[in-house]
Amino acid sequence: MDIAVFSTPALVAQATANKILAFIQSKPNALLCLAGGDSPRLTYQYLAAAVKSSGTNCGRLQFVSLDEWVGIPPTNTGSCFYFLQETIFGPLAIPPVNIHFFNSSATDLTAECNRIDKIIAQLQGIDVLLAGIGLNGHIGFNEPGLPQASAHVTELDSLTQQVGQKYFEQNASLQYGITQGMAQLLQSKTILLLATGTKKAAIVQQALEEKMTDAVPASLLRQHSNAFALLDREAAALLTQ
Ligand code: F6R
Repeated sequence: MDIAVFSTPALVAQATANKILAFIQSKPNALLCLAGGDSPRLTYQYLAAAVKSSGTNCGRLQFVSLDEWVGIPPTNTGSCFYFLQETIFGPLAIPPVNIHFFNSSATDLTAECNRIDKIIAQLQGIDVLLAGIGLNGHIGFNEPGLPQASAHVTELDSLTQQVGQKYFEQNASLQYGITQGMAQLLQSKTILLLATGTKKAAIVQQALEEKMTDAVPASLLRQHSNAFALLDREAAALLTQ
């Protein structure tokens, strides 16, 4: 895994946005899978600005959902969909038909998982995965000790449930998540992992320097041959290399 450390979160975001912009310019019909959460917020701002100033047409890009809170509708401001619609799909004017998101309120969530897996296969795999890292090392909602190959519903660990409240205006029930599977994600052609801030330092060190294990799903990204970790100085503070 290629590790780049920048002095500020803004520089991390700028570098990440530049990488994504270069990618979508080279493949205008790319399939992207983007995390919600705080880590990529600034990256999306820079990317939207760069797309605009460069006149890049994003009308042929495709997007697939990384994860969603089960039972939280897309109209809820704390949902992954709402966040991505506001920060990137809307600003990039992505046609709704090109956005393939988990319906986490579906009555048959297994069918929903199969639907998303099938779309990824039809679109010939994810080109770029942009992931954040959970404080417990999760990627998407692949929770410690529980990563599965393909899309699945998972019980969220207590830390994820607790931390997840930060996205919601009112207390939300966050017991389950629906997520793409780790093996599926590892087939992405390019993986970008973003982490900033002191809070992430310990888990970043574990993921990037300790043994690769299902117990720290982010550590599994190191087996990928085209994966990049983009960190600020604070998140990288405990790395020994
Ligand atoms: C969200 C997602 C999660 C987050 C992770 C870090 O779609 O996939 O895995 O990336 O929980 O969240 P933040 O960036 O808020 O620290």
